Amino acid sequence: MEKQIVLLPGDGIGTEVIKSAKKVLEAIAEEYHHTFTFTVHAIGGSAIDSNGDPLPPSTVEACKKADAILLGAVGGPKWDQNPSHLRPEKGLLGIRKALDLYANLRPVKAFEKLLHASPLKADRVQGSDLLIVRELTGGLYFGTPSERRDDGKSVVDTLAYTRTEIERIVDKAFQCAQGRKKHLTSVDKANVLESSKLWREVVEQKKADYPEVEVEHLLVDAAAMKLITNPTHFDVIVTENMFGDIISDEASVLTGSLGMLPSASLREDGVGLYEPVHGSAPDIAGQGVANPIGMILSAAMMLRHSFSLNEEAEAIENAVQSVLDNGYHTPDLRMHNGQKAGTKEMTDLIVDHIKTASASTCIMSC
Ligand code: NAD
Ligand code: IPM
Ligand code: MN
Repeated sequence: MEKQIVLLPGDGIGTEVIKSAKKVLEAIAEEYHHTFTFTVHAIGGSAIDSNGDPLPPSTVEACKKADAILLGAVGGPKWDQNPSHLRPEKGLLGIRKALDLYANLRPVKAFEKLLHASPLKADRVQGSDLLIVRELTGGLYFGTPSERRDDGKSVVDTLAYTRTEIERIVDKAFQCAQGRKKHLTSVDKANVLESSKLWREVVEQKKADYPEVEVEHLLVDAAAMKLITNPTHFDVIVTENMFGDIISDEASVLTGSLGMLPSASLREDGVGLYEPVHGSAPDIAGQGVANPIGMILSAAMMLRHSFSLNEEAEAIENAVQSVLDNGYHTPDLRMHNGQKAGTKEMTDLIVDHIKTASASTCIMSC
């Protein structure tokens, strides 16, 4: 298979972990006889520095032509005082909108070996395996520009959703639930917000199209509590943009680190941008210690969702699992035992495992 992949490293540890994903994909290409061609484009703070624009038009063009996109992370203190239109985050929001990537899938799975890396009790966390389906191109993040205001005395952000925007993300979540444990939790604030009332109405209407899926509604405050007190209760969670942002960082605590979570940002037709859930981590950038697993698992999601390369995606996931099972982990995973490894070392261990596993499969079946 021949594929063109655009890499958007961005800022901070984004530039470090994207190298890990590329290395892993090169190993997959070699072992499974694919040709992946990579081109690097600017986004975020580094694009402000190089092009005076957090999302240069050339980046958008390249992304539109690509078969899939991998993004590291954007942002950092250097650009924190910039005006809104010159913030790195504008680049990320801009590419999501330009490609209509409305469905953000954020799987959260507690690895057995890392149960003690979570500050939560291991017996609570054990068996956690959930998927957050976050609406990604609407809500507060994309309030009507003419209504957005900061005149020094008062500020306005608007939260708007159309019925169609809600329907398509709710459909996506039902479809995900059908392929999993058939349990869907819709998270909203319907006791206060108009947008949430419509959200709940749409979920109730869509229920009829997916009779096998059990549906519940939770208010976001209660959901935030339940997510860490009873995480195995959840299968698929569907929620609007900002709630999804917040509860996914919270859910990362189940895995031991924010650095563990991958994500896929998808359009209706399968076009996808794949990015870890974490940010540019200025506190550890440049030290070579960033956890590359969220990024590497995002590459696995790319193989599965955009290229239908399920075996190759599984090879990456198995390699991550094995390296963790062997006791290796980056320092963000606070464990008493095991072997500390940096970004490069973790990546090389994962790559080695992919190569050895594929060689042994070949001995058995070639
Ligand atoms: P962050 O996710 O960058 O970091 C939060 C904490 O988690 C930090 O202590 C960091 O060291 C740790 N962490 C995150 N990823 C890690 C990894 N892979 N390995 C080890 N430790 C990891 O969030 P923040 O500090 O609030 O934000 C920093 C910048 O990143 C801001 O400019 C923010 O806007 C941006 N951001 C970007 C994205 C994105 O590009 N998708 C996501 C979140 C935040
Ligand atoms: C994320 C990030 C972004 C978001 C920011 C950087 C705009 O936090 O991808 O989770 O809130 O969507
Ligand atoms: Mn976030």
